[in-house]
Amino acid sequence: MAYDFDTIARDYDRMNRLMTLGLDCRWRKRAVRELSTFHFPLSTLDVACGTGDMVVELMKHGCTVIGVDLSEEMMAIARQKAPTATYMIADAEHLPFEDNSFDVVTCAFGVRNFVHLEQGLGEMLRVLKPGGRMVILELATPDSVVVRPFYNLYTRRLIPLLGKWLAGSREAYTYLPRSIERFPKGKDFLAVLEHVGVRASERKMTFGVCREYVAVKD
Ligand SMILES: C[S@@+](CC[C@H](N)C(=O)[O-])C[C@H]1O[C@@H](n2cnc3c(N)ncnc32)[C@H](O)[C@@H]1O
Repeated sequence: MAYDFDTIARDYDRMNRLMTLGLDCRWRKRAVRELSTFHFPLSTLDVACGTGDMVVELMKHGCTVIGVDLSEEMMAIARQKAPTATYMIADAEHLPFEDNSFDVVTCAFGVRNFVHLEQGLGEMLRVLKPGGRMVILELATPDSVVVRPFYNLYTRRLIPLLGKWLAGSREAYTYLPRSIERFPKGKDFLAVLEHVGVRASERKMTFGVCREYVAVKD
């Protein structure tokens, strides 16, 4: 079953900024900036848009954006931040759009939560126009054996405590590092994308704690 983000929506942004020391904003910005090799404005679908931070970034470049998410509470915050975007409650695994509809499909820190990963990725690919670009941001454990012990200490010990104190949910922030550890990263995630039908490239940000995967649809 999908994790219910309604329960943490109110504290989601504050926790994100704190946990990543604001880096999450930089990671999204960088991913969107790279789309500039395309000609803005672009018709964009932001899958698992949550509280709308990616929507905001895309709109700064004049993109027309549709944000979809399962959580009404998360999207309520997105609606306040970027009221001129279009929002829909929709499951990434069954997107309510025609084939080949969008120039760009983005998903920031969302694919890790899909119940059926390949089904969700396949849907994102289906609604992308040929020549269009799919951009996925996801958290991962760092590869470096030097960095990893610090990362583990931070994510397994400190983040659940911060979650308890600041968001009243130790459970949600225990789920977070566990879901990151279980999720395929690097060449394993690229193999999943290839199985779904698209070749992608990977870029590591901040010691590989954030990975950007970019694919162009044939
Ligand atoms: C970690 S948040 C990421 C939110 C936002 N993209 C960001 O950059 O902060 C994950 C989001 O994925 C949504 N989500 C999880 N599974 C989904 C699915 N199958 N379809 C649509 N949204 C989903 C959750 O409701 C939640 O808002």
